Amino acid sequence: MPLNLGEVVPDFESETNEGPIKFHEWLGNSWAILFSHPRDYTPVCTTELGRAAKLAPEFQRRGVKMIALSCDDAESHRGWIKDLEAYCGVGSGKFPYPIIADHDRTLAVKFGMLDPDELNNEGMPLTARVVYVIGPDHKVKTLILYPATSGRNFDEILRIIDSLQLVAKHNVVTPVDWKSGDKVIVPPTVPAADLAKNYPKGVEVQPLPSGKEYLRYTPQP
Ligand code: BEZ
Repeated sequence: MPLNLGEVVPDFESETNEGPIKFHEWLGNSWAILFSHPRDYTPVCTTELGRAAKLAPEFQRRGVKMIALSCDDAESHRGWIKDLEAYCGVGSGKFPYPIIADHDRTLAVKFGMLDPDELNNEGMPLTARVVYVIGPDHKVKTLILYPATSGRNFDEILRIIDSLQLVAKHNVVTPVDWKSGDKVIVPPTVPAADLAKNYPKGVEVQPLPSGKEYLRYTPQP
């Protein structure tokens, strides 16, 4: 089973293209994303890791560390990274995040990252495309699970990080398709009597046929 929301990501030691890491030590008290991939030198993975590398400044701006995982060894990762650097144009030697070498699938199995419908040439399940957004408390804040066949949307990963970081600081929630800067929603648990005190930028109630005043917008704090 994949790790669940609210679970602490277990600590582990692993080889990466940049050398060995102890995961919790590497995390420190930072936000992070851990994203897994089926294999080195495969096309969809190349587009995903390349896009993530291009977006590295956006993750850095949000204080989010990045680490990928792929089921090949560190030597293979180092060779593939040359392709990734050329593909996304970050420049030789400038690849911005480490890739965990999970060549024996220890972590993919431990963290429930396998895709049972996609097998390699030896009949082994491939690693699925999982993203764990991890909070400063080392807990899973968001889990995205895609099959090996379909690439993810890294704009959505940045969008959910914006939402997670906002709601970690303020007592608001974010609506469908919300983007940073859009108005947000007052949680249903906040009594009407507290609105003026807690939301000084104002609260707008959307009228609904039920007459119940539960859809309450406020500008992003
Ligand atoms: C890919 O990255 O292109 C890929 C990897 C495994 C299965 C299907 C596609």
